[in-house]
Order: sequence, then structure tokens, then C-alpha cells
Amino acid sequence: MAKIKIITGSNRPGRFNPQPVAWVKSIAETVSGIEVEVLDLAEINLPFLDETLPPMMGQYTQVHTKAWSAKIGEADGFIFVTPEYNHAYPAVLKNAIDYLFTEWNYKPVAFVSYGAVVGGALAVEQLRSLASVLNMFALKEQVVIPNYWGGLNEDGEYQFTAEQGKVATEMLIKLAFWSEEMKVSRAKLS
Ligand SMILES: Cc1cc2nc3c(=O)[nH]c(=O)nc-3n(C[C@H](O)[C@H](O)[C@H](O)COP(=O)(O)O)c2cc1C
Repeated sequence: MAKIKIITGSNRPGRFNPQPVAWVKSIAETVSGIEVEVLDLAEINLPFLDETLPPMMGQYTQVHTKAWSAKIGEADGFIFVTPEYNHAYPAVLKNAIDYLFTEWNYKPVAFVSYGAVVGGALAVEQLRSLASVLNMFALKEQVVIPNYWGGLNEDGEYQFTAEQGKVATEMLIKLAFWSEEMKVSRAKLS
């Protein structure tokens, strides 16, 4: 089984983030060959990067860095679920990514984004640039949720559409495939 980590892109009180996270997790659980775990950056609560050496050297001193390294290191693929803040992805996600280096390398990543009219697409474009620096494979397929507040019911629950579910399923099947393939390729590097 390939290990897929869903990483939350928001740690804000009252955030919308848990809804798309729970939704994409439930779809991922129907895809064969993968096991999924949510890594909630609000719970993990990393401080601003506080290591003295660059992550490329892999010489971590802080307990929280070692724990984060173990979680990301064991992963075979990722789903970043991100909002868009000022046309970018949130600082909490950048900070969590910057903590590590080799742990991200040669692993695929898929995206679920949400926001106003472009549904977080600008944030995802920036994450695609970042992924290339980390030697990650960013899947073309992505789920974009524009103006999500228009799709909330009276209890504040977003009503995901069948089309969004179809796109997510196709994306996750590809993520499962590349997670397994890249695991085999990484083994050749060691
Ligand atoms: C600091 C900040 C900046 C924002 N900038 C954008 C933006 O550039 N584009 C957009 O679509 N939505 C923007 N929004 C609205 C967010 O899409 C919306 O607040 C969303 O709920 C944020 O995700 P979260 O609730 O999971 O934190 C912004 C929200 C915040 C808090």
C-alpha cells in the first residue's frame, strides 16, 4: 500500500479547510492501493523554521522537526488542500514544506484548492513551482472549488458536486499509480 498524506493548507480558527480535507479523504479511501492519513498543520503546530542548518543537510536538532521528518519521510505521495491568501498559498504551508527537503523528493503531489472566483488556482500555480524545486511530481489533474460559500447549505456544509467527485477520483487514481511507481524508482536511488 502506498502511503498518502493529506496536508492541510490552513490553520486558521473557523477555517473551511476541514470540509475539503474530509471530502477528499473519503474519496481517497475508495481508491485501491493507497492508505491515507491527514496531517493537520493546526495540530502539528510547527513554529517558524528554527533549525540552524539548511534542511538539505538533514541534520535536525528539534524534536518537532524529527517528528515532521518521520511523517513526511514515510509518505509515498501527497494531497495538498489549500486556500488562496492574497493570490498565494498560506504561510503555514510554506513553513511546513521548508522544514524538510529529501523527505519530499521524487514523490507525487495532487492539489485540492478553494477560494473566490479562481478557486485557489493561483495558490496551486505557486505550489507547482515549489514542487519542482523539491523534485516532486505535481499532477496536472486538480480539484478547484470556486466561490465555495455559494455552495454551503444552511448548516454551513459545502455541497460537493458529482463533477467534483469525478475529477477527484480520476486525480486520486493517478496519484495512487505514481505513488507506487515512484516508490520503486526511489528504491533504486538508495
Ligand atoms: C489573508 C486572506 C487572504 C485572502 N486572499 C484571497 C485570495 O487572494 N483569493 C481568494 O480566492 N480568496 C482569498 N481569501 C478568501 C479565502 O478564500 C477564504 O477566506 C477561505 O475560507 C480561506 O480558507 P480557510 O477558511 O480554510 O482558511 C483570503 C482570505 C484570507 C484570510
